[in-house]
Amino acid sequence: MAIWNLGSINADMVYSLPHLPAPGETLAASGLQKFLGGKGANMSVAAARAGAHVRHIGAVGADGLWARERLTEYGVDTRNIAQVDTPTGHAIIAVDAQGENLIILYPGANHAIGADALSEALSDSNAGDILVFQNETSAQIQAAKQGRERGLIVCYAAAPFSAGAVQEVLPYLDFLILNEVEAEQLQQATSLAPADLPVEHVIVTLGSKGARYFPRGQMAVDFSAHRVQAVDTTGAGDTFTGYVLAGIDRGMPMAQAIKQANRAAALMVMRPGTADVIPDLKDVRAAVFD
Ligand code: RIB
Repeated sequence: MAIWNLGSINADMVYSLPHLPAPGETLAASGLQKFLGGKGANMSVAAARAGAHVRHIGAVGADGLWARERLTEYGVDTRNIAQVDTPTGHAIIAVDAQGENLIILYPGANHAIGADALSEALSDSNAGDILVFQNETSAQIQAAKQGRERGLIVCYAAAPFSAGAVQEVLPYLDFLILNEVEAEQLQQATSLAPADLPVEHVIVTLGSKGARYFPRGQMAVDFSAHRVQAVDTTGAGDTFTGYVLAGIDRGMPMAQAIKQANRAAALMVMRPGTADVIPDLKDVRAAVFD
């Protein structure tokens, strides 16, 4: 089987700061590093490192060919990443001494993915494949509809969160992953708690507290996180999602896939950076936690 990821690709400019800047504040960074990033690219790399065959559907500008090449090096199938006439997306990421972040996004080419390119890519998919997308690209609704029509397992990682964007794709979803705050915002917008959403599988990630899985019509199941010293939480949620989906794609029961994803996310928060530093399956399996 395969995982199809309609996903963003960004150049992540990561600034190390003593604290996150307040409005009007000028703050000198103590470091700057450039990484491959984007929630989509991070998920593709995570799923590929977890052993899945990942086909990324996306777009970069002429300035982003390095990003496509890097995804290929990391084992992602990049034949459906188009080169378009718009600059590649980028993110300005501030990380403070506690590992917390703030992110400014410039969508660029991620918003220039055409519906035709999406349809052409998905014409190679097979029923039972997984389709994942996030809220950083164009063509999300088309993806959700086509995924459903083709019998794919349609998964939405609802970040960056917009209640309207989730509501538009909700009828087509088999799988929804969102964090605690997003779940609350969605409940305010729809009056539906995670357990009541019309989606087979809902996972609410709880940061350092782990994750809660809501199988439709059944009791929720809690999974605790591993206790680690976080240096950078950026991309940990994306790593979790990529690992969960890879586990499902490889036939794991959901509980096993979530436990493995928790291990991967725990390792990820101990590493500064995004896609380039996502742990591989060997590291995830070998890790020893308290
Ligand atoms: O989730 C982290 C990601 O969000 C970063 O890689 C950045 O590019 C933004 O998309």
